[in-house]
Amino acid sequence: MIAFNNRKESIQFRFPKGFWWGSAVSATQIEGAADKDGKGKNIWDYWYEQEPNRFFNGVGPEKTSQFYDRFREDIQLMKEIGHNSFRFSISWSRMFPDGKSINRKGIDFYNQVIDELILHGIEPFVNLYHFDMPLELQKMGGWANREVVNAYVQYAKTCFAQFGDRVKKWFTHNEPIVPVEGGYLYDFHYPNEVDFGKAVQVAYHMMLSSASAIKEYKELGQDGKIGIILNLTPSYPRSHHPADLQASKIADAFFNRSFLDPSITGEFPQELVQILDEEGYRPEMEDGDLDRIEQNTVDFLGINYYQPRRVKAKEYMPNPDAPFMPECFFDHYVMPGRKMNPYRGWEIYEKGIYDILINLKENYGNIECFISENGMGVEGEERFRDKNGTIQDDYRIEFIQEHLKWVHKAIQEGCNVKGYHLWTFMDNWSWTNAYKNRYGLVSVNLDKDSERSIKKSGYWFKSLSENNGF
Ligand code: NOJ
Repeated sequence: MIAFNNRKESIQFRFPKGFWWGSAVSATQIEGAADKDGKGKNIWDYWYEQEPNRFFNGVGPEKTSQFYDRFREDIQLMKEIGHNSFRFSISWSRMFPDGKSINRKGIDFYNQVIDELILHGIEPFVNLYHFDMPLELQKMGGWANREVVNAYVQYAKTCFAQFGDRVKKWFTHNEPIVPVEGGYLYDFHYPNEVDFGKAVQVAYHMMLSSASAIKEYKELGQDGKIGIILNLTPSYPRSHHPADLQASKIADAFFNRSFLDPSITGEFPQELVQILDEEGYRPEMEDGDLDRIEQNTVDFLGINYYQPRRVKAKEYMPNPDAPFMPECFFDHYVMPGRKMNPYRGWEIYEKGIYDILINLKENYGNIECFISENGMGVEGEERFRDKNGTIQDDYRIEFIQEHLKWVHKAIQEGCNVKGYHLWTFMDNWSWTNAYKNRYGLVSVNLDKDSERSIKKSGYWFKSLSENNGF
């Protein structure tokens, strides 16, 4: 066991009392047991059956990290590495295998997980939708079909009723822009369509579903909070040239403000509405929808931050025959000399996390928020395992520290930040990348029946949480 000599007096960055320290996971990425105890198929189970070659090393979501059968061991490990809170998602198709009728065993499973967390002094943060549409509902058109919004609200109400006595932190969605981009624009999620009009309808229905679930939750009068988790990618223009500034503003409207604004202020960004109107892509709406969105904004916000978006004005007119895309308005730009994650190829820009928080403070009423994901994926991480079997992931410790310094600064400047959750607790299965990039504080050895072992970063995280700083 590694002991960190982090004496109280040597703490340089101390966080507010009661700060939430923990990590995040999602059902499809950790549970396994894809068809056990009555669980129905979701789009990932189905897509894997159809096209296993789209998944790294041909590994699909039935494998994952076996949390369904090993959750007690895992929660014990969370305790050991200092978690006081933990975010997971409920699998919609485990609760409602065909999208409509309920599976008692699904309720039993989540009851046990919640009870076990509480028993260990770990507060459950529960998210309702993390990319895992039940297949039967996808056959009806998934989020493109308004009836699916109603099915989601039923599912949400069931979760509030069954678990709301113990769960006090709820989230309607995780990164709702991702199923829109992946499924309907850029072909990395099922149903792999490229259809801008559908993407807009899907995004709109997801936003409507979020407001509808919030409405139901508030009407129940449970004494908890409900929010949404958004991946915010701050948009930086290549230069101060007006054309670059405009390009960056539009990218921000598409990828951040499309969900951020309605979630917090109840209104869609004007820049976006104008583009959709001009281009003929206004989604289908019903009377009363916009009032519902306006009246049911979030109590708090989860922020997933990984990397920024660098943007420049378009240099060539888009091909008029190519499908309409957000990129008709801007180009992505590779900033010379940017710092990169050497093990995954993503830019690392720690200050981005601060810029997000300051923006929330200045332009969104300083809404209560927390970092709900941040983390470093590493390909081939086994090579860092030492002879005692511990992964020596100093790069991850440094990554977390460098981000936390900026979070700390934001708090000093008055930002309303309540916690930090790392992606992720243990190495898990990623959407098409399967186990390629490892993100966990705990490693999972796929060659040894998914044996868990705490990485150096896990021990460090314990000292971070116990000292409430570093
Ligand atoms: C965002 C998502 O919420 C999660 O599912 C994913 O695996 C991580 N980021 C890492 O890319």
